[in-house]
Amino acid sequence: MSTPLHDAVAEVLLKNRRTKDGYQYTVPSPSSYPYQWLWDSCFHAIMLSHLEFDAAKAELRALVSKQFPSGQIPHMLYWEPQEVMAVDWGVPDTSSLTQPPLLAYATWRTFAASGDHAFLEELYPAIVRFHEYLLTRVRPEVGLIGIINPDESGEDNSPRFDRALALPAQHPVEHNSQKRFALFDEHRTCAYLAYPCTATHFWVEDVAFNSYFVWNCQVLADIAHELGDTTASAHWRGVAKRVGQAMREHLLFNGEFKTLSSPDFLPIEIKTWAMFAPLLADLYTKDEAAVLIETHLKDPTSFDAPFGVPTVALDEPSYDPYEPSWGKAWQHPHWRGPIWMAPHWFLHKGLTRYGYTDLAATLKQKSVSLIEKSGFREYFDPMTGEGMGAEDFTWGGLVIDME
Ligand code: GLC
Repeated sequence: MSTPLHDAVAEVLLKNRRTKDGYQYTVPSPSSYPYQWLWDSCFHAIMLSHLEFDAAKAELRALVSKQFPSGQIPHMLYWEPQEVMAVDWGVPDTSSLTQPPLLAYATWRTFAASGDHAFLEELYPAIVRFHEYLLTRVRPEVGLIGIINPDESGEDNSPRFDRALALPAQHPVEHNSQKRFALFDEHRTCAYLAYPCTATHFWVEDVAFNSYFVWNCQVLADIAHELGDTTASAHWRGVAKRVGQAMREHLLFNGEFKTLSSPDFLPIEIKTWAMFAPLLADLYTKDEAAVLIETHLKDPTSFDAPFGVPTVALDEPSYDPYEPSWGKAWQHPHWRGPIWMAPHWFLHKGLTRYGYTDLAATLKQKSVSLIEKSGFREYFDPMTGEGMGAEDFTWGGLVIDME
């Protein structure tokens, strides 16, 4: 289907398209984020599956081309080195961290749109190895995936990570980045052994990250089934179930999922959009979901803002919707309140999965309004819809997949 919105998304994706060494990928924003990023590329493939199948496939092929022998997929691929995020990661051409596992879903969608079975078969081993790698990242007594840096969540300075970084609810954003960058060095010193080595400096069993993992294991089971591998299909369904149960056992408190964080592994009580992420993977009961939505999502003092769902509830002490006034956009991706399109898209998927189609439609409408008002910006003020951060930022394109 082609609409003016589809055309606008196609235009920004084309503007941000790059080729190198026979690979093709999309940068999230030409001036602010000029490389390939892991979860961004999954979003791009999902958008492209509505527009241009071959480009969706190319995006994912480029992404898995730098997979490590361990199975890890790095979160940044520096095809053309530039001054943005010029970090000494200690590994060539990529970062040493990872990002949320959405590869199974992005591949599945690309297959579903294109019908290209050979492509599914081609990507399958990389997805399996990535998921197996993530399973090496569990505290054995808990069985949940841990992240070793806030950047691995994709929500770099979210207040969910304040405690692990020993930061107060309000702090200068420079302090936040200094601590995150210091962790890059710890990981190098640990020779990239996330657990148990880097984990001694930062370890967070994040609700959103584990929800993505469970959801993508469910999809991986579908992929294995489609490829006729019934043993693997049963295996991944079992992994999804096991991690889902561990989430319910360790992260669910009075009907709400919370993140566990080093150093003490007590639940993080700050309300962020992540409390809704388990809807993606069917981890709340129907009754729990109904209460959660009624008490939080529909509450105008916390998550029901005029332009959509803020990343941090409006009534949290850490809520701060404004872009920091110094430096360049890439120096302060800001996850302490403004609306970002990826959480909107996750929430749309979760609400649809639970049958809340009216709420999902409203969320889509608000997302479209943000683009109409402010264009393809990185994030938005929940009260005014004003766009902030990077320009020509691709994530607004996710609206074409809110269906
Ligand atoms: C910012 C975002 C992160 C994203 C990256 C590239 O760092 O916080 O989620 O992957 O930009 O767009």
